Amino acid sequence: MGEKRENWGSKIGLILAMAGNAIGLGNFWRFPYQAASNGGGAFMIPYFAALIMLGLPLMLVEWNLGRYGGKYGHGTLGPMVYLQAREGTKPRKAAVIGALAGMLAFGVTLLVNSYYNHIIGWTLGYSFLSLTGGYMDSAKSTGEIFVGYIQNPAMVFTFWIIALLGLALAVMRGVQKGIEAWAKLMMPVLYVFGIILAIRSLTLGSPVNPDWSSLKGLNFVWNPDFSKLNWTAALAAAGQIFFTLSLGMGIICNYASYLKPEDDVVVSSIATISLNEFAEIVLGSTIVIPIAYAFLGPDGVGAGVGLSFIALPNVFRAMAGGQLFGSLWFLLLFFAGFTSAIAMYNYLTALVEEDLGIERKKASWIIFIAYIIVGLPVGLEPILTKTAELVYLTEVDNWVGSYLLLVLGLIEIIVAAFLMGDRSLVEINKGGIWQVPTWFFNTFVKGIAPLALVIVLIFSTKTYMEAGYFNIVPSFVEGMPQLVPWVQAARLVIALVLVAGFIQSYTSIKNK
Ligand code: PHE
Ligand code: NA
Repeated sequence: MGEKRENWGSKIGLILAMAGNAIGLGNFWRFPYQAASNGGGAFMIPYFAALIMLGLPLMLVEWNLGRYGGKYGHGTLGPMVYLQAREGTKPRKAAVIGALAGMLAFGVTLLVNSYYNHIIGWTLGYSFLSLTGGYMDSAKSTGEIFVGYIQNPAMVFTFWIIALLGLALAVMRGVQKGIEAWAKLMMPVLYVFGIILAIRSLTLGSPVNPDWSSLKGLNFVWNPDFSKLNWTAALAAAGQIFFTLSLGMGIICNYASYLKPEDDVVVSSIATISLNEFAEIVLGSTIVIPIAYAFLGPDGVGAGVGLSFIALPNVFRAMAGGQLFGSLWFLLLFFAGFTSAIAMYNYLTALVEEDLGIERKKASWIIFIAYIIVGLPVGLEPILTKTAELVYLTEVDNWVGSYLLLVLGLIEIIVAAFLMGDRSLVEINKGGIWQVPTWFFNTFVKGIAPLALVIVLIFSTKTYMEAGYFNIVPSFVEGMPQLVPWVQAARLVIALVLVAGFIQSYTSIKNK
């Protein structure tokens, strides 16, 4: 490492950047439909359990892992995990563990972006439609309009490319002038829009059915129905906690690598969680679910993935000032997604910079091209198949949006708890205003979190095997279940990216 690494410019810049990283489409697009389709209030029980048992311990572990790696000039997971694993095992073994972590972080970050950037593009396109009244005409259903959108190459590719160019230009300028500057602009606006929408949402009566006021919708999220508690809800909750807190993919570690050695990681962890959960639980669930409930009733709330893009536009059509509130909503989604995508983009740019020795500007164009390549199948599927099933997107999300995040989380926590061991706690508490107590470390980091992760992973693996997710053998092999070509393609791409990621990560660790 010849050059000096950049650091965060100011406390407020760091706080807004960490909020920008964690607060994303997960809070406003994914959380409401996850909660609605996993029992509403019942979902909140495993959700909070996962927040405390997995979210908090792993957040501490990731901030610590990142600051530690940053001290040695590393912003990516392979070398970071290697450095800590080396404290408790032979270098060769540590290199393999590091390479596995590096592989997962690379694979997840690259592949999440194959669809995450498209959804950001949709939010930008829908902001444009909102401002110009594009979905207000009720001659077509909002479902038809959405299908029309994702099957229209001009719309899909224009807004996708604009979003990608914005990301490239932001990341190119580095930590202070790029990441921090954009977070300082977008995050305050996001909070203001979120609060306006939440107030509007809670003051809605129902024009459709007097029984469906928005306050009843809130009840739907906060009234736990214990009979609906099951394994599926628990898996969904653990997956959502990882997704929303940006855990298990290296981007928290990457932001932490720009801390100075004596900067606090305990307060940073707690701040990241608090800022994200405020946006998720207070704003996310207060905006979407009550609005949808007031206009569409209990069945409308369960609308799944399409809740944001199909159900809510119906509401904006029907409500006074809908064009304005619709615009605020889709711009909020856009800002949320964009600032998270900056974090993922920066991870990959740092990888090219640090492992291949290519300067940042060039590195960020390389990532731009990589994003176009991995994103093409997601954008092309609805256009070519003339369907709106999005099976490629769904398949990739099933793997990298939850399962692989949990695997990486498990590796990180094992290294922190058992290889680095008690030295982890000493490291975590370095420079801290608040100190993590030994009992917490022993109970949560060494006990509950790894145990809970192992259990969740065993059950998810079983579920995935039963669902045939591990079949990557093409359908011409006799006796194999017939797979949809897009599903096969997705599995092959995932497998290839992981293999490439392992080789890349292992060689770069060996060379250092
Ligand atoms: N945590 C962010 C969100 O909630 C972004 C993110 C999602 C990052 C998934 C990584 C993986 O949207
Ligand atoms: Na989030």
